[in-house]
Amino acid sequence: MQLFLDTADAASIRRAAEMGVLDGVTTNPTLVAKAGRSISDVIVEICEIVKGPVSVESVAETAEGMVGDARKFSKLSKHVVVKFPFCEEGLKATKIVSKEGIRVNMTLIFSPLQAWLAAKAGAAYVSPFIGRLDDIATPGMQLIEQIVRLFDRHRFSTKVLAASIRHPIHVLEAALLGAHVATMPPEVFHKMFPHPLTKSGIEQFNKDYRAIPPSPSL
Ligand code: G3P
Repeated sequence: MQLFLDTADAASIRRAAEMGVLDGVTTNPTLVAKAGRSISDVIVEICEIVKGPVSVESVAETAEGMVGDARKFSKLSKHVVVKFPFCEEGLKATKIVSKEGIRVNMTLIFSPLQAWLAAKAGAAYVSPFIGRLDDIATPGMQLIEQIVRLFDRHRFSTKVLAASIRHPIHVLEAALLGAHVATMPPEVFHKMFPHPLTKSGIEQFNKDYRAIPPSPSL
């Protein structure tokens, strides 16, 4: 499973990229607004850091507007993936731009049939929102499981991108179910690191190392 960060914060992205574990980035209008800079400035910088797929969302309400955004955004970098919300106009736009070689991430997916339609229209990724389903007492992980099964069964190449991830268990469960990508906020990414036994193990080894007689050759 690939690991994406769901943020437009360049410092967080650089930190994860330097660890060698970051495959891509997803953004949405809310996240770009938080960065306080123009979309083009933010996206170009992120693409240079991550050198992998970077999703940029269109807020156009017509297929024509979405296609226009897709063509503009994709000129910013070869790494840009255009995000369209799931809707009739989004499907039309996906069909058009995917034929031009522009990759589409169809977002705001809340049912397996939405994912199926997005795949049929040519989306490269679908983004089911796990956390927002959990928030309304509907198990988000069941949606991941169903979409993975549906795409496997019908041999779609569209990737399942688990989004709206709220904690590390979401990441683990999405991976075990066969999601192709998990995108998570930096806070969730960093919550995967600590373990008390890792911490105490490092402390003990460092302490014991200091008791070893010095080696003349080291
Ligand atoms: O970027 C899409 C998605 O990951 C948003 O998550 O936490 O706002 O539901 P959230």
